[in-house]
Amino acid sequence: MRTIIEPFRIKMTEALPVTTRAQREASLASAHNNVFLLDAEDITIDLLTDSGTGAMSARQWAALMQGDESYAGSVSWRRFESTVREITGFKHIFPTHQGRAAERILAATRLKPGDIVPNNSHFDTTRANIEYVGAQAVDLLTPEGQDIYSDARFKGNMDVGKLERLIETKGAKAIPFCMITVTNNAGGGQPVSMENIRSVKKTLGKYNIPLVIDACRYAENSYFIKENEPGFADRSLMEIAQEMFSLADGATMSAKKDGLANIGGFLACHDDEWAEDFRNMLILTEGFPTYGGLAGRDLEAVAVGLKEALELEYQRYRHATVDYMASRLIERDIPIVRPAGGHAVFIDAADFCPHLKPSDFPGIGLVNALYLEGGIRAVELGSVMFGRVLPGTKEEIAAPRELVRLAFPRRVYTQSHFDYVIEVLDLVWRQRGAIPPYRITKQAPFLRHFTAHFVRG
Ligand code: F0G
Repeated sequence: MRTIIEPFRIKMTEALPVTTRAQREASLASAHNNVFLLDAEDITIDLLTDSGTGAMSARQWAALMQGDESYAGSVSWRRFESTVREITGFKHIFPTHQGRAAERILAATRLKPGDIVPNNSHFDTTRANIEYVGAQAVDLLTPEGQDIYSDARFKGNMDVGKLERLIETKGAKAIPFCMITVTNNAGGGQPVSMENIRSVKKTLGKYNIPLVIDACRYAENSYFIKENEPGFADRSLMEIAQEMFSLADGATMSAKKDGLANIGGFLACHDDEWAEDFRNMLILTEGFPTYGGLAGRDLEAVAVGLKEALELEYQRYRHATVDYMASRLIERDIPIVRPAGGHAVFIDAADFCPHLKPSDFPGIGLVNALYLEGGIRAVELGSVMFGRVLPGTKEEIAAPRELVRLAFPRRVYTQSHFDYVIEVLDLVWRQRGAIPPYRITKQAPFLRHFTAHFVRG
C-alpha cells in the first residue's frame, strides 16, 4: 500500500481548546508576546516541542501500574537498566529526571573553566550547562549542514577536518570529551551517518578523547541510517542503534523524546572513574542511583518506550508525517530546512520575513503570527535562543540562523491536524509582509528565550 497509516488506533481522547482571534490577542499580550508564557489551555495545536509531549501506548500505561516504588534496588530499575543496556551496551547507567540533568552531571564532573567541548551542534541546554562551568561549547557542522537548502542526506554530520584542526590547535588536554547529537536538533533535526560517527571516533581515538552521544533522538537517527546509508537497509533499528552506541564512550539521553515518555532520561558510560563521579553527583542532586529523580513507574514507562521507538512501523509513520508537512510547504515555496528533519519542520524565518533583520527577531514575529492566526504554538530557534547580548553593551550578536521549529509530538496529532497547520501557515505566508519586528524588554542571563518579555516595534 502507498498510504502510510498511523500504526495505532485511539483509545482515549483529549479535547482541543478552540479559541477566537480576540482571545488569542489577549492571551499573547498577557504572555508578554512570548509563547512559552501562554497557558496550554489557550493553544489549539501545540508544536512547541516533541519533548515529553508524546502519547504513551497501552503497554506503557500497563507497565506504569507495575512501578516498584522501593527507594533502593527496585524491580523497575532493573527493567530500566537492562533495556538501556541492551540498546546501548554501556557498563554504567544512571537514571536522571531528564536530559539536562545528565548534561549537568557530565559537565559538573568532567569539565573545568577553559575546557572545550566540540559537538556537531550543541542544543541550548547542553551549551548552557557547559558554559555554566566556564567551559566552551564549539559547534563543528559540515558546510552542507550549514546550508539550509542543500538536499544532502546527512546534514547533521560533524566536520571531521574541523575537529582535527581544533584538537591540533587547542591540544587534546583542553578537550575532556567530544559530543555528537543524534539527530542534530539545533541544526534542523538532521541525521548523523554511522560513517561520520565512526570517523569522529577514529579521530578522537588518536588523541584519547572520549566520545559522548547526545542520544535524545537515537531511534529517529537509526531510521534515517536504515533508509539512506548504504549497507544498512537490511539491518533492524535495534542493531543500528547498538552499533551507534558501540562507537561511544558515554551518552546523555532525554527519554522525553525517543523514550516515548513524559519524563525521564539517563547518563551512561563505560569508564569506572567517570561512573564513580557521576554516581556521587547523582546522589547529591537527583537521587539514589536506582531511581535518579524518577518514580519507579516512570522507569517502567521509559523501559517500554525505548523499545517501541525502535519499531519499524512506528518510525515509518513518524517520518511520513514530517515529510507530509514538509512537502506541502515546499509546494507553496515556504522556505524550510531541507530535507525534512526527524522530529520537526524548521522554517527559515529570515527568508520568510526578508523585511526584518536578525535584531528584529523574525522568528518571534513568525511564531506569534502563527499563534494569532490559528492558535498554533511553535518555537523560535534563532537570535533569541542562540544569540546573545555583547557583555557590557546592549548590542545583540545574532545567531547563524533564524529558524522556527514546528515540532511533532509523538503519536498525538493526526493528518487533519497537520492539514490545519498547513492552511494556517499558507495564510501567514501570504500576509508575511505584515509580520512586525519585536524587541526584548526583559531577559535572563541564561536560556533567555524561556522567560523573555517582548514588545512590538
Ligand atoms: N539534547 C537535545 C538534542 C535536546 O533536544 C534536548 C531537549 C536536550 C538535550 C535536553 O533534554 O529537555 O530532557 O532536559 N530538547 C527539547 C526540545 C527541550 O524542545 O527540543 P531535556
